[in-house]
Amino acid sequence: MSATPADASQGGSIDHVLTEDRLFPPSAEFTKNAVISTQDQYEQLYAAARDTPDDFWRDQANEHLHWFEPFSEVCQWEAPDAKWFVGGKTNACYNCVDAHVEAGRGDKTAIIWEGEPGDKRTLSYRELQTEVAKCAEAYQQLGVGLGDVVSIYMPMTPELAIAMLACARIGAIHSVIFAGFSAESIADRNNDASAKLMITSDGLNRRGKVLPLKQTVDEALDKSTTVEKCLVLRRTGGDDTPMTEGRDVWWHDVVDTQPGVLPATPLESETPLFILYTSGSTGKPKGILHTTAGYNLWARRTFEWVFDHRDDDIYWCTADCGWITGHSYIVYGPMTAGATCLMYEGAPNHPAEDRFWDLVEKYKVTILYTAPTAVRAFIKWGDEHVDKHDLSSLRLLGSVGEGINPEAWMWYHEKIGGGKCPIVDTWWQTETGGIMMSPLPGITPTKPGSCTKPLPGVIPKIVDEIGNEVDSEHGGKLCISQPWPGMLRGIWGDPKRFVDQYFSDVPGQYLTGDNARRDSDGYYWIMGRIDDVINVSGHRLSTIEVESALVSHPDVCEAAVVGRPDDLKGQAIAAFVTTTNREVNDEFLKELKQHVRKQIGALAQPDDIRFTSALPKTRSGKIMRRLLRDVAAGRELAGDTSTLEDLASIASLQEKD
Ligand code: WT7
Repeated sequence: MSATPADASQGGSIDHVLTEDRLFPPSAEFTKNAVISTQDQYEQLYAAARDTPDDFWRDQANEHLHWFEPFSEVCQWEAPDAKWFVGGKTNACYNCVDAHVEAGRGDKTAIIWEGEPGDKRTLSYRELQTEVAKCAEAYQQLGVGLGDVVSIYMPMTPELAIAMLACARIGAIHSVIFAGFSAESIADRNNDASAKLMITSDGLNRRGKVLPLKQTVDEALDKSTTVEKCLVLRRTGGDDTPMTEGRDVWWHDVVDTQPGVLPATPLESETPLFILYTSGSTGKPKGILHTTAGYNLWARRTFEWVFDHRDDDIYWCTADCGWITGHSYIVYGPMTAGATCLMYEGAPNHPAEDRFWDLVEKYKVTILYTAPTAVRAFIKWGDEHVDKHDLSSLRLLGSVGEGINPEAWMWYHEKIGGGKCPIVDTWWQTETGGIMMSPLPGITPTKPGSCTKPLPGVIPKIVDEIGNEVDSEHGGKLCISQPWPGMLRGIWGDPKRFVDQYFSDVPGQYLTGDNARRDSDGYYWIMGRIDDVINVSGHRLSTIEVESALVSHPDVCEAAVVGRPDDLKGQAIAAFVTTTNREVNDEFLKELKQHVRKQIGALAQPDDIRFTSALPKTRSGKIMRRLLRDVAAGRELAGDTSTLEDLASIASLQEKD
């Protein structure tokens, strides 16, 4: 596939981005107190990490992680296999929790939590240590130990972070599954990872309603062959939670009753820390594997550099722990840095559209990290919800998940940041473990829509079809040419796919799957995916995954799914479907949408479904997605008329070829 700017039109806002040339330098006030406050400082760090990576990362690791046993080698790299801090022993849970208690900072608040109904809880690092130890003790009692996989399907409660950290404490591997996924998706992930323990809650609060999580999990467990026990947190209450004798146990029975004294186990640097499933370009989600030391260090340092972290910050990342953003920037990064993190359970518009601003004001949040899709929703809901609140505590804003369009950027800057807060537009991926490119808020003049420059240790290359570096202003495939500590270590159970997907295109280099260009100031602009991955509200979905879900319905013959630009979600899901002889009506349409929800989850439900008598294909039988993208977006088709009815005739023309 070629890498022209036109390709990126599937991303939506690129046309604005290509003409964007405004520059916003940080204020002198911000720069004065910043962790990285001069361009020289950045350039020195960058050059050191690029030219003498072993020395650079040796110092970083020794200074910023606790070592039970020192490492003997910094990095072993034979693409695609990376091993970092070989021979050393550390523990990510220790670094996140115990280290602060040991250093006399045990009374510092680790988590400030607010539930959707308004209930509140705070945990100091010392309290967190006890809770995490109790949970780890319960795991041991349930037969879970080093190398066992624990699936976590929970609401955003402190117990979710505790359950993750407790895995890290004993070397169990967590696999967090976002609580919006269906029973089918849970079962697929459980089976792929051979999960031994499942953790969930009775229910989840969402916009004032209770969603019965445990029921969904029960359905999943019927199809999960390896799960032996299910640990259930009482969150929403009620007596109607089904509990299966011999398999299901309550959190308050087996966790709360433990002594809470179990220390963290010293673990080899490359001990698997977690698996996180994400969509690739094929139908089956892949389990991205991250390991202990390298990931932990990357999460910590990128957090400290990008968010300019200071001891008195109140930091709020609005992501869910079901995504990589929650792993790296709610749990491992900020906690290793000893930050105070706000965690919120519910929807941004419950009980009203000002809930986020109410939280910012109440807890005096200083750093806010959210997604462009949320910013666009706030714009739509109206400024009056923001105007009600005092947001003057904010000093830094972050954005993640997709490129932020200049219009949303400007509103975020002015309305939320009062014109004084730098915005860090952070580009990264589940696979990269942490932020790869971002402004450094004290020094980088920002351009709306650009993730600006690479962090120390990140060496980006823009290449053409055959892997040669290209004229970067024109754009091409974005690769990373040196290993970095936070990089993925594999796809769970599928080494071949790991190589094919990430390391076969350009030998020795990591292929990101994104197109990018670099402007004359050396700033990077991400231009959308080169594969069949779409980005819906900052969540990654494979079009083929949605197609598979559609064709699993008995009345669907064939399906093609593409992304189309959407003002709120960035991309919406448009499906083209051929059916058997079933009559096409609203009921069938609803049934199909429901079917996809059931197969994957609500986030994959198509926004549009259009029926056609045939799908346009190339002679080799490949669906012509580019053409469908144009149809879905309502764009003129070059040389063809653009009505859907013509798809059939386009298809028949193809067949005659
Ligand atoms: C894909 C990764 C990064 C954590 C959340 C999503 C897109 C992400 C940006 C950004 C432009 C972005 C890319 C990337 N993306 N952040 N700041 N600017 N595009 O993680 O689900 O692994 O998705 O999201 O296309 O490849 P993910």
